[in-house]
Amino acid sequence: MPTRERKDVYKLPAGDNTLEWYGKAVAKMRTRPATDPTSWSYQAGIHGFQKENPYWAHVGPVPSPGQQTEYWKQCQHGSWYFLPWHRMYLAYFEQIVAKTIVDLGGPPGWSLPFWNYSDTSNPNATKLPPAFIAGTAASNPLQMPAAGQYPGRRHNFVEHKDVTLAALRTLVFQGAPTGVPPGFGGPVTGFSHSGKTHGDLEHLPHDMVHVDIGGAMGDPRTAGLDPIFWLHHANIDRLWQVWLNLGHSRHNPVDTAWLNFAFDFHDATGTPKALKVAEVLDTTKVLGHGYSYQGVPTSPPATAAAETMFANKLFAAAPGDLDDGMPPEVAAATDTSLTLDRSNTTTSLQLISSGRKTGSLHRFNTALPGLVGATATANTSHVYLNFENITGKGVPPAYDVYLNLPDENRPDDAHFAGALPFFGVEAASSKDSQHNGSGQHYVFDVSDIVSTLKENSQWDPQHLKVHLQPRETPEPGCTIEIGRISLYVK
Ligand code: C2O
Repeated sequence: MPTRERKDVYKLPAGDNTLEWYGKAVAKMRTRPATDPTSWSYQAGIHGFQKENPYWAHVGPVPSPGQQTEYWKQCQHGSWYFLPWHRMYLAYFEQIVAKTIVDLGGPPGWSLPFWNYSDTSNPNATKLPPAFIAGTAASNPLQMPAAGQYPGRRHNFVEHKDVTLAALRTLVFQGAPTGVPPGFGGPVTGFSHSGKTHGDLEHLPHDMVHVDIGGAMGDPRTAGLDPIFWLHHANIDRLWQVWLNLGHSRHNPVDTAWLNFAFDFHDATGTPKALKVAEVLDTTKVLGHGYSYQGVPTSPPATAAAETMFANKLFAAAPGDLDDGMPPEVAAATDTSLTLDRSNTTTSLQLISSGRKTGSLHRFNTALPGLVGATATANTSHVYLNFENITGKGVPPAYDVYLNLPDENRPDDAHFAGALPFFGVEAASSKDSQHNGSGQHYVFDVSDIVSTLKENSQWDPQHLKVHLQPRETPEPGCTIEIGRISLYVK
C-alpha cells in the first residue's frame, strides 16, 4: 500500500470528497454501540470518559470497568508520551474510519486531513473549516451536537495569539523532571493520563485550541466526541515532524523508557493491538502503510544549510536557543496560594533571598543583566514564569497572563506572557488511580518580555507582579486555585 498523504483541510481541491466520506463514516460510527471498539463513542472513550458528563448522557451501555481500565481514559497529557500516544491513537482511528468508508462503498485509503490554524497565508485559517459548521447537528455529522444546555462548541474559531508556533523554537524534546523548562514534547513521566506540566507544544497551540473551541472540545473527557478533534490532532502530529525538520540538534528522546513504552488499542477489525513508541517515530512506517503530511518532508534536511533555510521560512530570527545544560532555579515566588474569581487578579512575587538554594539569587542577579547586556548572552539565559499546582472545578475559561502590567485596566502586548488554558484541570485535581491530584503546572518562557522591559527600563526584580485576566466570565461553580506562582532563572 502506498504511503497516505494527510492533506491540509483548507487545500483540498474542488470536488474532493475526503470530508464527505468522513461525515458518512462519523454518522455510521455513531450508530455503533459504545462497547464496539470501532464505534464513535468507544473511540472518544479511549481519550477520556466521565459517566455523569452531559456530553456522555446518551451513550448507553459502556465497556466493563476492567475493559475501561485497559483501553479507556488513556490519553497522555503533561508527559513526554503526549505526542507518541496521540500519534498511535490517530493512526488506529484513521484506519477505522477508512475501513468504515470502504464498507459503505467508498474509496480505499482515506486519510485524515489536518487543520493548520497557524497558516498565516490563509486568511480563514483560524476559523473552523466550513464543512464542520454547515447545517445543523441533525443534518451534518461533522457538527458537534449540543448536550442539553451545553453547546456542542462555544466558538467556531480560535484566537490568532493562541496558535503561534513559539514551541518550535524549543530545542530539547523532553522537559526537566521539575517541569522547568517543560521541553517541546513534555516532561519525563510514567503513564500520565493527566500529568502536571504540559510541554511547550501541548500548551500552545494544543491546549489553547481545545479551550478556544470549547464545548466538548474544552475537556479531555469529552474532546474525542467532536469530529474536529481529529483534524486538530493531525496538525499537532504534523508539527512534531516540522519541529524535527528544523534540525539544529532537535531530536526525539533516545531513552529506552520512552522508546519501549507500549500502549493498548484496537484495530479496524476490533482486534486488540499494542504499539511501542519506537514503532511510530517514522510516520512513513506507522501501521505498515504509513503516512506523510502535505508540504512537510518526512525526514529532516540533510545539511545544516538546508536546516537553516527551512527554519528561515518559519522564523524571521534565530531558529532556536542554545542550551547550556544548567537547570533553572527558583528566584522569586508568591508566598500564598491564589484563588481566581471572575475579576482580574494581580499578585506580587517576592524575591527568594535566603534559606533556599543559595545559588538562585546569585544567578538571578547575574543572569538577568545578561539578557540585555552588551555582551549579549541571551542565548543561555532564560526566565520562566510558572504556575504550580493548579487545581479546580468545572471547565474554566482561559486566563490571559501579563507580567508587570503598569495599568491593570490596559492590557499591553509588551507585557503579555501567554494564556493559561487549564485544559483538563478538573480531572488533574481529583485524586484517584489515574490522577495524583496535585493539579497542573504551566510554564511560560518570559525571557523575551523581560529583555524588552529591561531595554525600556521597566524591569525591577524587586517589584514583580503577575496579572491574570479571565477571557470570559467563568460558569457558576467553576473555581481555580493556583498553589504558587514562581519565577525561575537560568
Ligand atoms: Cu489528549 Cu488534544 O488531547
